[in-house]
Amino acid sequence: MTVSRVTCPQRTMMDEEILQLLRDHSSAFLSGEEISHRLKVSRTAVWKRMKRLRALGYEIEASTRSGYRLIRSPDLLTPSEIKPILKTKWLGKTVHHFHTLDSTNSKAYQLGLNGAKEGEVVIAESQERGRGRLGRHWFSPPFLNLYLSVILRPRISPHRASLITLMAAVATAEAIRKFSGLLPLIKWPNDILLRDRKVAGLLNEIHSEMDRIHFVILGMGVNLNMDKRMFSKEIRDVATSLKIEMGQTISRKAFLRFLLQELEKWYTIFMKEGSPFILKAWRDRAHIKGRRVKVTSFGETWIGRAMDVDSDGALILETAGGKRKRVVAGDVEYKKWKMGSEK
Ligand code: BTN
Repeated sequence: MTVSRVTCPQRTMMDEEILQLLRDHSSAFLSGEEISHRLKVSRTAVWKRMKRLRALGYEIEASTRSGYRLIRSPDLLTPSEIKPILKTKWLGKTVHHFHTLDSTNSKAYQLGLNGAKEGEVVIAESQERGRGRLGRHWFSPPFLNLYLSVILRPRISPHRASLITLMAAVATAEAIRKFSGLLPLIKWPNDILLRDRKVAGLLNEIHSEMDRIHFVILGMGVNLNMDKRMFSKEIRDVATSLKIEMGQTISRKAFLRFLLQELEKWYTIFMKEGSPFILKAWRDRAHIKGRRVKVTSFGETWIGRAMDVDSDGALILETAGGKRKRVVAGDVEYKKWKMGSEK
C-alpha cells in the first residue's frame, strides 16, 4: 500500500520530503548540505523546516558536524506517518492531510466536485467547524481524535445511499471492537456507543441526480484521546472516548489503520453482496428490536417499540395503539420499559 499523492501546502510538502529523507537514513546522520542539495533549497530553509518539525513534536537530533537524525515521530496523521502502516488495497491511496480545516466533509465535497477518485481520504488534525448530524456541532480539538472523510463513488441508486451509512457504522464498530476488544453498540442510524455513551459519529452526504450517485462523502469522527473534563457539560455524561474506556492513551495512527481496513472490507462486501448482508451485520450490532425508544424527527416526537430497520435503513417504530411508523431521519433515545408502558 502506498500513499501515492500528498496534498498539502508547499512548506508542508517540504516537511514531508525532509521526513522521508530522514527516515530513509534512520540509522545515520544526514547532513544539512545533503538535504538542501536533494530538495534544491537553501540550508537556511532546511534549518527553518527542522525548527518547525520539532515544534510539531518530531524529535530530531542535530550535530554541527554530522547533520540531522530522526529519533522519534509524534502521533500525527500526515501521509508520511500513515503510509508505512496502512494495510488497505485502494482506500486511502491518496490522503489529503491538513493541520486544520473548517470541516473535512466540506473539503471532501469540494474535492468530489473536482473529480477526486473513489477512496481518496481527507484528514484534519483539528476542525474549526466540525459538523454533526441534524445541524449540530462536532467538537474537534487538535491532535486528540480522528476527523476524516472518505470519498466513495458507488454505482447504486440514490435511494440505497442510506445503506452506506449503515455499512460505515458496522465498519466503525468492528474497527473499535478489533482495536480495543470492547463491544460497541450501534444506535440508529449510526452512532457508535460504548457503555451507552457515544464514542463515534458519522455524517454522510451525497451528491446525486435522481437516478445516479455522483459521490458519497463518509464523514467519521471518533473520540480517541478525550478526557471526560474535555467534553462540554451538555454532553459529558453521554459521550466517551477510547482512552476513557480503555484506560490508556490511544495511538491515532494505529486506530486509523484498523478503521480504514474495516471500511474497505465492509464497503467491498456491500458492493458485492448487497444490502441483506449489511442489514444483518447492522442488526447484529444494534440489538434494536423490541427496545422502547423515543424518536425525534423533523420536530415531532414519538415513543414506542423499535421493530426493525427496513431494506432502505429506515427505522420501523410501533407507536401506542399498534400503529407502525417509518422514520427516515432523526434521533433515537433508549427508554426503560416501565410497568404499563408496553404499548
Ligand atoms: C454525528 O452527529 O454523530 C456525526 C458526527 C460526524 C463528525 C465527523 S468529524 C469528520 C467529518 N467532518 C465533519 O465536519 N463531520 C464529520
